[in-house]
Amino acid sequence: MSRNSYRPDFTVITGASAGLGAALARAYASPGHRLGLIGRSESRLVSVADECRKAGARVKFMVTDVTDAEAVRKCILEWDREHPIDLVIANAGVFDGHGPDGQMERMDEIDVQVRINLLGLMATVNAALPHFRERRKGTIALVGSLAALQPLADAPGYSASKAGAMAYGEALQEYLHDEGVRIALIYPGHIETAQVAGHVGALPHLTTPEAAAALIKRRLDRGHTVIAFPWQLVWLIRAGRLLPWRWRALAGRGFRFHLRK
Ligand SMILES: NC(=O)c1ccc[n+]([C@@H]2O[C@H](COP(=O)([O-])OP(=O)(O)OC[C@H]3O[C@@H](n4cnc5c(N)ncnc54)[C@H](OP(=O)(O)O)[C@@H]3O)[C@@H](O)[C@H]2O)c1
Repeated sequence: MSRNSYRPDFTVITGASAGLGAALARAYASPGHRLGLIGRSESRLVSVADECRKAGARVKFMVTDVTDAEAVRKCILEWDREHPIDLVIANAGVFDGHGPDGQMERMDEIDVQVRINLLGLMATVNAALPHFRERRKGTIALVGSLAALQPLADAPGYSASKAGAMAYGEALQEYLHDEGVRIALIYPGHIETAQVAGHVGALPHLTTPEAAAALIKRRLDRGHTVIAFPWQLVWLIRAGRLLPWRWRALAGRGFRFHLRK
């Protein structure tokens, strides 16, 4: 085991009722491991919790909207009092973008994304941080997107919400680096979940939620603080950022998409 390797005892995951969050819950579910699952859909949380219990995990769940900062704070406070939480994965998120025929995303759609992807994530971080700082330990993993590194022309509100979330995480990473609290920034590429169900266009290197969750867990276990995948898109984005934006726009034409609305 490397010096930085890390085995959490109590993991809290937001957006655990479906997609990547549910896959992460299943990946962390093991005998004796404690899980705290947060999401809005009770029936889906119940079914993820049942699966995790079958794998031997001790599971709690809370039907909570991450945009309700006070509810998230109370939930994490209550769970942390019962047993110290050592890993929080702020994963809850929504995706939107432009529709067919040049229809741009609407202001109300942008509003929802910023509230959940940015403010909801900040609420989750702020709920956990006081406990982690007091104990001088713990990890908060923020699920962003590669869209934070290369904004998507067809999903500007989403890209902005994710870039904001990752900028927030980067700032905290530096602020907290000598306090023993680890902030891990996660930049996934396309994952086959409800988020991409309405996507009309290329989905290069699409991966399954299970494969994405296994990769994230493996790297968090090894102590990584930046987790970006798939590597092919990460390198393409890095190379593209060296180009003038018009060249990048030309090169990226094959990746353009719209959403079925
Ligand atoms: N799929 C991709 O290609 C992709 C790529 C990059 C990044 N991501 C990011 O990965 C994360 C997970 O997305 P996914 O692909 O797994 O999408 P998903 O299948 O739609 O799952 C989203 C999860 O977030 C929860 N959620 C949404 N709004 C919430 C709120 N206000 N409060 C609490 N929970 C909320 C949903 O549960 P409820 O509806 O029950 O609340 C669900 O559990 C998101 O942050 C997403 O942006 C996804």
